[in-house]
Amino acid sequence: MELPEEWQRAVVPSLPAAGSDVVGEFADTIYGRTPDGGELTELVLRSRDDGVLDGAADRLRHRAVIACPLGDVVLDTLTHRPAGAGAAPVVVVLNFKGNDETIETWPYATAIAAGYAVLTVDYQQIEPDDPAPAAPGVRALFPNETWGAVAAWAWGLCRLLDIAGRIPGVDTAGAVALGHSRLGKAALWAGAQDDRFAVTAANGSGCCGAALFRHPAGEDIAAITTKFPHWFVPSFAAYARHENDLPVDQHQLLASIAPRRVAITSAEADAWADPIGEYLAVTAARPSFPPNAIGYHLRPGDHDLLEEDWRYVLDFANRG
Ligand code: GCU
Repeated sequence: MELPEEWQRAVVPSLPAAGSDVVGEFADTIYGRTPDGGELTELVLRSRDDGVLDGAADRLRHRAVIACPLGDVVLDTLTHRPAGAGAAPVVVVLNFKGNDETIETWPYATAIAAGYAVLTVDYQQIEPDDPAPAAPGVRALFPNETWGAVAAWAWGLCRLLDIAGRIPGVDTAGAVALGHSRLGKAALWAGAQDDRFAVTAANGSGCCGAALFRHPAGEDIAAITTKFPHWFVPSFAAYARHENDLPVDQHQLLASIAPRRVAITSAEADAWADPIGEYLAVTAARPSFPPNAIGYHLRPGDHDLLEEDWRYVLDFANRG
Protein backbone atom coordinates (compact mmCIF):
# COMPACT_ATOMS: atom_id res chain seq x y z
CA MET A 1 0.00 0.00 0.00
CA GLU A 2 1.29 3.46 -0.88
CA LEU A 3 0.94 5.81 2.06
CA PRO A 4 0.08 9.48 1.65
CA GLU A 5 3.15 11.70 1.49
CA GLU A 6 2.71 13.12 5.01
CA TRP A 7 2.67 9.61 6.50
CA GLN A 8 6.14 8.95 5.13
CA ARG A 9 8.01 11.94 6.47
CA ALA A 10 9.37 13.04 9.83
CA VAL A 11 12.74 14.43 10.81
CA VAL A 12 13.56 12.85 14.13
CA PRO A 13 16.63 12.27 16.28
CA SER A 14 18.42 9.00 15.60
CA LEU A 15 17.57 5.87 17.53
CA PRO A 16 19.33 5.40 20.86
CA ALA A 17 22.81 3.94 20.59
CA ALA A 18 23.35 0.64 22.36
CA GLY A 19 24.15 1.24 26.02
CA SER A 20 22.81 4.82 26.12
CA ASP A 21 20.49 5.70 28.99
CA VAL A 22 17.52 6.76 26.93
CA VAL A 23 15.06 5.81 29.68
CA GLY A 24 16.98 8.15 32.01
CA GLU A 25 16.65 10.93 29.42
CA PHE A 26 12.89 10.44 29.28
CA ALA A 27 12.76 10.43 33.08
CA ASP A 28 14.70 13.68 33.33
CA THR A 29 12.90 15.42 30.47
CA ILE A 30 9.27 14.32 30.63
CA TYR A 31 7.95 11.83 33.15
CA GLY A 32 10.26 11.67 36.14
CA ARG A 33 11.61 8.33 37.23
CA THR A 34 9.23 5.79 38.69
CA PRO A 35 10.76 4.57 41.96
CA ASP A 36 11.34 0.84 42.33
CA GLY A 37 9.85 0.69 45.79
CA GLY A 38 6.41 -0.21 47.04
CA GLU A 39 6.03 -3.64 48.55
CA LEU A 40 2.87 -5.67 48.32
CA THR A 41 2.36 -6.58 51.98
CA GLU A 42 -1.25 -7.77 52.00
CA LEU A 43 -3.58 -9.25 49.42
CA VAL A 44 -7.05 -10.11 50.69
CA LEU A 45 -9.65 -11.85 48.55
CA ARG A 46 -12.89 -9.91 49.04
CA SER A 47 -15.16 -11.81 46.70
CA ARG A 48 -15.09 -14.55 44.14
CA ASP A 49 -17.69 -15.39 41.50
CA ASP A 50 -16.90 -18.49 39.49
CA GLY A 51 -18.36 -19.23 36.10
CA VAL A 52 -19.20 -15.68 35.00
CA LEU A 53 -19.22 -14.78 31.26
CA ASP A 54 -21.24 -17.92 30.40
CA GLY A 55 -19.03 -20.12 32.51
CA ALA A 56 -15.79 -19.04 30.84
CA ALA A 57 -14.30 -16.92 33.62
CA ASP A 58 -13.85 -16.45 37.34
CA ARG A 59 -14.23 -12.93 38.72
CA LEU A 60 -12.14 -12.05 41.77
CA ARG A 61 -12.00 -8.88 43.82
CA HIS A 62 -9.00 -8.22 46.04
CA ARG A 63 -7.84 -5.52 48.38
CA ALA A 64 -4.08 -5.00 48.10
CA VAL A 65 -1.94 -3.03 50.53
CA ILE A 66 1.33 -1.70 49.14
CA ALA A 67 3.80 -0.34 51.67
CA CYS A 68 5.68 2.76 50.51
CA PRO A 69 8.32 4.71 52.44
CA LEU A 70 5.83 7.20 53.96
CA GLY A 71 2.65 5.14 54.09
CA ASP A 72 0.45 2.59 52.33
CA VAL A 73 -1.38 2.62 49.02
CA VAL A 74 -4.58 0.55 49.09
CA LEU A 75 -5.92 -0.80 45.80
CA ASP A 76 -9.25 -2.52 45.15
CA THR A 77 -8.59 -4.69 42.14
CA LEU A 78 -10.83 -6.67 39.80
CA THR A 79 -9.53 -9.78 38.07
CA HIS A 80 -11.12 -11.94 35.41
CA ARG A 81 -9.30 -15.20 34.69
CA PRO A 82 -10.18 -18.11 32.43
CA ALA A 83 -12.18 -20.69 34.41
CA GLY A 84 -10.52 -23.98 35.22
CA ALA A 85 -7.50 -23.45 32.98
CA GLY A 86 -3.86 -23.53 34.03
CA ALA A 87 -2.15 -20.20 34.61
CA ALA A 88 -3.19 -17.58 32.07
CA PRO A 89 -0.93 -14.66 31.10
CA VAL A 90 -2.26 -11.38 32.41
CA VAL A 91 -3.24 -8.07 30.85
CA VAL A 92 -2.84 -5.30 33.43
CA VAL A 93 -4.83 -2.20 32.56
CA LEU A 94 -5.93 0.82 34.58
CA ASN A 95 -9.50 2.06 34.26
CA PHE A 96 -10.99 5.55 34.31
CA LYS A 97 -14.40 5.07 35.90
CA GLY A 98 -14.09 2.31 38.44
CA ASN A 99 -13.93 -1.47 38.22
CA ASP A 100 -17.66 -2.07 37.91
CA GLU A 101 -17.98 0.11 34.85
CA THR A 102 -15.44 -2.09 33.03
CA ILE A 103 -17.76 -5.06 33.47
CA GLU A 104 -20.28 -3.15 31.34
CA THR A 105 -17.90 -1.77 28.75
CA TRP A 106 -14.80 -3.96 28.28
CA PRO A 107 -14.82 -7.10 26.12
CA TYR A 108 -13.76 -9.45 28.90
CA ALA A 109 -15.20 -12.46 27.07
CA THR A 110 -12.88 -11.71 24.14
CA ALA A 111 -9.83 -11.50 26.40
CA ILE A 112 -10.76 -14.74 28.18
CA ALA A 113 -11.35 -16.50 24.84
CA ALA A 114 -7.89 -15.35 23.76
CA GLY A 115 -6.48 -17.09 26.84
CA TYR A 116 -5.75 -14.00 28.95
CA ALA A 117 -6.59 -12.94 32.47
CA VAL A 118 -7.32 -9.23 32.95
CA LEU A 119 -6.48 -7.29 36.12
CA THR A 120 -7.64 -3.71 36.58
CA VAL A 121 -7.95 -0.93 39.14
CA ASP A 122 -9.30 2.62 39.12
CA TYR A 123 -6.30 4.77 38.15
CA GLN A 124 -7.15 7.43 40.71
CA GLN A 125 -6.62 4.98 43.56
CA ILE A 126 -2.95 5.30 42.65
CA GLU A 127 -2.69 9.02 42.03
CA PRO A 128 -5.50 11.59 41.73
CA ASP A 129 -5.79 13.13 38.29
CA ASP A 130 -5.79 16.67 39.60
CA PRO A 131 -3.15 19.42 39.66
CA ALA A 132 -4.19 20.28 43.24
CA PRO A 133 -5.65 17.08 44.68
CA ALA A 134 -7.72 17.11 47.86
CA ALA A 135 -5.91 13.98 49.07
CA PRO A 136 -2.41 13.09 47.91
CA GLY A 137 -1.60 9.91 46.01
CA VAL A 138 1.42 7.65 45.85
CA ARG A 139 3.76 10.45 44.82
CA ALA A 140 3.51 11.92 48.31
CA LEU A 141 4.63 8.62 49.81
CA PHE A 142 8.11 8.64 48.30
CA PRO A 143 10.37 11.39 49.69
CA ASN A 144 12.75 13.28 47.41
CA GLU A 145 11.35 12.07 44.09
CA THR A 146 10.20 14.28 41.23
CA TRP A 147 7.74 12.34 39.15
CA GLY A 148 4.55 13.21 37.37
CA ALA A 149 1.18 11.52 37.60
CA VAL A 150 1.84 9.54 34.39
CA ALA A 151 4.86 7.98 36.11
CA ALA A 152 2.72 7.29 39.18
CA TRP A 153 0.16 5.44 37.04
CA ALA A 154 3.05 3.53 35.46
CA TRP A 155 4.12 2.59 39.00
CA GLY A 156 0.57 1.32 39.53
CA LEU A 157 0.81 -0.96 36.48
CA CYS A 158 4.00 -2.47 37.92
CA ARG A 159 2.25 -3.07 41.25
CA LEU A 160 -0.67 -4.72 39.42
CA LEU A 161 1.89 -7.15 38.05
CA ASP A 162 3.10 -7.85 41.61
CA ILE A 163 -0.53 -8.54 42.55
CA ALA A 164 -1.07 -10.78 39.52
CA GLY A 165 1.91 -12.87 40.62
CA ARG A 166 0.07 -13.71 43.84
CA ILE A 167 -3.27 -14.77 42.30
CA PRO A 168 -3.65 -18.47 41.53
CA GLY A 169 -4.40 -19.18 37.86
CA VAL A 170 -2.80 -15.91 36.75
CA ASP A 171 0.68 -15.82 35.27
CA THR A 172 3.03 -12.87 34.94
CA ALA A 173 5.04 -14.56 32.17
CA GLY A 174 3.85 -13.05 28.89
CA ALA A 175 2.27 -10.09 30.73
CA VAL A 176 0.74 -7.24 28.75
CA ALA A 177 0.62 -3.60 29.93
CA LEU A 178 -2.36 -1.99 28.20
CA GLY A 179 -3.66 1.56 28.45
CA HIS A 180 -5.87 4.04 26.66
CA SER A 181 -5.05 7.70 26.17
CA ARG A 182 -3.37 9.20 29.28
CA LEU A 183 -3.22 5.64 30.58
CA GLY A 184 -1.62 4.57 27.29
CA LYS A 185 1.13 7.08 28.03
CA ALA A 186 1.47 5.39 31.43
CA ALA A 187 1.56 1.93 29.82
CA LEU A 188 4.45 2.99 27.59
CA TRP A 189 6.36 4.44 30.52
CA ALA A 190 5.75 1.24 32.54
CA GLY A 191 6.88 -0.92 29.63
CA ALA A 192 10.04 1.13 29.18
CA GLN A 193 11.02 0.78 32.84
CA ASP A 194 9.88 -2.73 33.80
CA ASP A 195 11.09 -5.60 31.69
CA ARG A 196 8.58 -8.01 33.20
CA PHE A 197 6.15 -6.72 30.56
CA ALA A 198 6.46 -8.96 27.50
CA VAL A 199 4.07 -6.71 25.58
CA THR A 200 3.36 -2.99 25.94
CA ALA A 201 0.19 -1.76 24.26
CA ALA A 202 -0.88 1.88 24.00
CA ASN A 203 -4.19 2.91 22.45
CA GLY A 204 -4.88 6.51 21.41
CA SER A 205 -1.92 7.56 23.56
CA GLY A 206 -1.08 10.66 21.50
CA CYS A 207 1.12 13.47 22.82
CA CYS A 208 3.69 12.13 25.34
CA GLY A 209 2.51 8.66 24.34
CA ALA A 210 3.30 7.14 20.96
CA ALA A 211 3.00 10.31 18.84
CA LEU A 212 6.14 12.09 17.67
CA PHE A 213 6.57 15.59 19.08
CA ARG A 214 8.26 16.54 15.82
CA HIS A 215 5.18 15.70 13.78
CA PRO A 216 3.29 18.96 14.27
CA ALA A 217 -0.32 17.83 14.56
CA GLY A 218 -2.84 17.27 17.32
CA GLU A 219 -1.98 18.08 20.92
CA ASP A 220 1.37 19.78 21.59
CA ILE A 221 3.50 20.41 24.66
CA ALA A 222 1.98 23.85 25.27
CA ALA A 223 -1.53 22.40 25.35
CA ILE A 224 -0.75 19.35 27.45
CA THR A 225 1.39 21.10 30.06
CA THR A 226 -1.13 23.94 30.43
CA LYS A 227 -4.09 21.68 31.01
CA PHE A 228 -2.31 18.81 32.78
CA PRO A 229 0.72 20.27 34.58
CA HIS A 230 0.65 17.47 37.15
CA TRP A 231 1.28 14.72 34.58
CA PHE A 232 4.98 15.48 34.04
CA VAL A 233 8.08 16.92 35.69
CA PRO A 234 7.63 20.71 35.97
CA SER A 235 10.66 21.48 33.76
CA PHE A 236 9.00 19.75 30.77
CA ALA A 237 6.77 22.79 30.21
CA ALA A 238 9.83 24.78 29.11
CA TYR A 239 9.72 22.83 25.81
CA ALA A 240 6.34 24.31 24.90
CA ARG A 241 6.67 25.63 21.33
CA HIS A 242 10.28 24.35 21.34
CA GLU A 243 9.60 20.76 20.34
CA ASN A 244 12.73 20.66 18.20
CA ASP A 245 14.91 21.36 21.25
CA LEU A 246 13.79 18.21 23.04
CA PRO A 247 16.67 15.78 23.57
CA VAL A 248 14.29 12.89 22.85
CA ASP A 249 11.30 11.96 20.74
CA GLN A 250 8.73 9.23 21.18
CA HIS A 251 10.10 6.71 18.66
CA GLN A 252 13.04 6.47 21.09
CA LEU A 253 10.68 5.60 23.93
CA LEU A 254 9.20 2.80 21.81
CA ALA A 255 12.70 1.66 20.83
CA SER A 256 13.78 1.59 24.48
CA ILE A 257 11.28 -1.23 25.05
CA ALA A 258 12.81 -3.45 22.32
CA PRO A 259 13.38 -6.34 21.96
CA ARG A 260 10.22 -6.74 24.03
CA ARG A 261 7.08 -6.28 21.95
CA VAL A 262 5.05 -3.11 21.43
CA ALA A 263 1.57 -2.63 19.94
CA ILE A 264 0.36 0.85 19.02
CA THR A 265 -3.30 1.35 18.14
CA SER A 266 -4.92 4.52 16.82
CA ALA A 267 -8.22 5.73 15.40
CA GLU A 268 -8.60 7.63 12.14
CA ALA A 269 -10.76 10.44 13.52
CA ASP A 270 -8.69 10.89 16.70
CA ALA A 271 -6.86 13.96 15.37
CA TRP A 272 -5.95 15.17 18.90
CA ALA A 273 -3.86 12.01 19.44
CA ASP A 274 -2.23 12.41 16.00
CA PRO A 275 -2.49 8.91 14.51
CA ILE A 276 -0.05 9.88 11.76
CA GLY A 277 2.53 10.94 14.36
CA GLU A 278 1.98 7.61 16.11
CA TYR A 279 2.47 5.69 12.89
CA LEU A 280 5.64 7.65 12.12
CA ALA A 281 7.04 6.85 15.57
CA VAL A 282 6.40 3.15 15.00
CA THR A 283 8.09 3.32 11.60
CA ALA A 284 11.10 5.18 12.99
CA ALA A 285 11.41 2.74 15.92
CA ARG A 286 11.07 -0.40 13.79
CA PRO A 287 14.82 -0.92 13.14
CA SER A 288 15.34 -1.46 16.90
CA PHE A 289 12.92 -4.39 17.01
CA PRO A 290 13.14 -8.01 15.91
CA PRO A 291 10.81 -8.83 12.99
CA ASN A 292 7.13 -8.46 13.91
CA ALA A 293 7.89 -7.26 17.43
CA ILE A 294 6.30 -3.84 16.90
CA GLY A 295 2.82 -3.52 15.46
CA TYR A 296 0.54 -0.67 14.43
CA HIS A 297 -3.21 -0.80 13.96
CA LEU A 298 -5.48 1.97 12.71
CA ARG A 299 -9.25 1.61 12.88
CA PRO A 300 -12.04 3.90 11.76
CA GLY A 301 -13.71 6.01 14.42
CA ASP A 302 -12.77 8.22 17.33
CA HIS A 303 -10.90 8.34 20.62
CA ASP A 304 -11.94 5.24 22.59
CA LEU A 305 -10.76 1.80 23.66
CA LEU A 306 -13.00 -0.50 21.65
CA GLU A 307 -13.30 -4.23 21.18
CA GLU A 308 -11.40 -3.94 17.89
CA ASP A 309 -8.45 -2.40 19.75
CA TRP A 310 -8.48 -5.19 22.35
CA ARG A 311 -8.69 -7.83 19.61
CA TYR A 312 -5.68 -6.42 17.82
CA VAL A 313 -3.64 -6.28 21.05
CA LEU A 314 -4.64 -9.81 22.12
CA ASP A 315 -3.89 -11.28 18.67
CA PHE A 316 -0.57 -9.42 18.61
CA ALA A 317 0.32 -10.68 22.10
CA ASN A 318 -0.62 -14.24 21.17
CA ARG A 319 1.64 -14.16 18.12
CA GLY A 320 4.70 -13.57 20.37
C1 GCU B 1 -6.97 14.80 26.89
C2 GCU B 1 -5.48 15.02 26.78
C3 GCU B 1 -4.80 13.81 26.13
C4 GCU B 1 -5.20 12.53 26.82
C5 GCU B 1 -6.71 12.44 26.85
C6 GCU B 1 -7.26 11.24 27.60
O1 GCU B 1 -7.55 14.85 25.63
O2 GCU B 1 -5.27 16.20 26.08
O3 GCU B 1 -3.38 13.95 26.19
O4 GCU B 1 -4.62 11.43 26.18
O5 GCU B 1 -7.23 13.57 27.51
O6 GCU B 1 -6.63 10.73 28.51
O7 GCU B 1 -8.39 10.85 27.27
